[in-house]
Amino acid sequence: MIELIDIHKTFDGKPVLRGVSLELRDGETLVVLGRSGCGKSVTLKIILRLMRPDSGRVIIDGADTTRYSEEQMMPVRKRMGMLFQGSALFDSLTVRENVAYALREHTKMGEAEVEAKAAECLEFVEMSGTQALMPAELSGGMKKRVALARAIALGPAYMFYDEPTTGLDPLTSKKINQLIRRLQAERRVSSIVVTHEIANAFQVADRFVMMKDGQILASGTSEEIRSSKLKFVQDFIKGGVIADGKQ
Ligand SMILES: Nc1ncnc2c1ncn2[C@@H]1O[C@H](COP(=O)(O)OP(=O)(O)O)[C@@H](O)[C@H]1O
Ligand SMILES: [Mg+2]
Repeated sequence: MIELIDIHKTFDGKPVLRGVSLELRDGETLVVLGRSGCGKSVTLKIILRLMRPDSGRVIIDGADTTRYSEEQMMPVRKRMGMLFQGSALFDSLTVRENVAYALREHTKMGEAEVEAKAAECLEFVEMSGTQALMPAELSGGMKKRVALARAIALGPAYMFYDEPTTGLDPLTSKKINQLIRRLQAERRVSSIVVTHEIANAFQVADRFVMMKDGQILASGTSEEIRSSKLKFVQDFIKGGVIADGKQ
């Protein structure tokens, strides 16, 4: 389980997170929904300790990691997979080497084992046989799937998805959503998906938190969110894709 308690973060005097508290329960997919700029990506980066909060606490599997050193974070991070917004593949490496990267970095696997594991991860995302391709040869959706194969190589307990379907067509988005669901069902992965796309959010969420201007203003199951009487929640839902001036 992961818990954020009263997280604050300011950039250049501008408050970006203003007391964010949330809980990711074991086995669930939690969607963090909110407009561009409301603080979703920063929230993920704070969980992964790619950034430090100004105040508040980050509890991971019962341990307060807020003051952990980089070295202490290493084993914690190994249990976490991240799918970045732009896929963030290494452009100069083949698909095989992209997926094998963490295995080479963090395990003592031999070459045959690395090859087998990379093949298995690619099969999971339905990208078998693409090992020798370069990222530049892949479509946006294929890049996302390779990035997902890379993220699951170490068998994470937690997955974090930053706008996993943004910029993808509806069919490709559906495929990504199915993979998120399968990781949950088949591998008991607990996930946080951040998105501003309502339709995709409903395809994967067990529970929602809704963010606005660095605060969480509502939370609940899909049903609770759909039937919420809060005006801003209804505005979100009616908007379909949340109006988004920045992206
Ligand atoms: N490293 C940074 N330095 C300065 N400002 C940042 C940084 N990262 C994010 N911000 C600002 O924090 C706000 C929230 O950003 P972000 O979490 O990326 O929003 P989103 O909800 O779209 O993911 C934005 O106004 C953004 O410009
Ligand atoms: Mg973002």
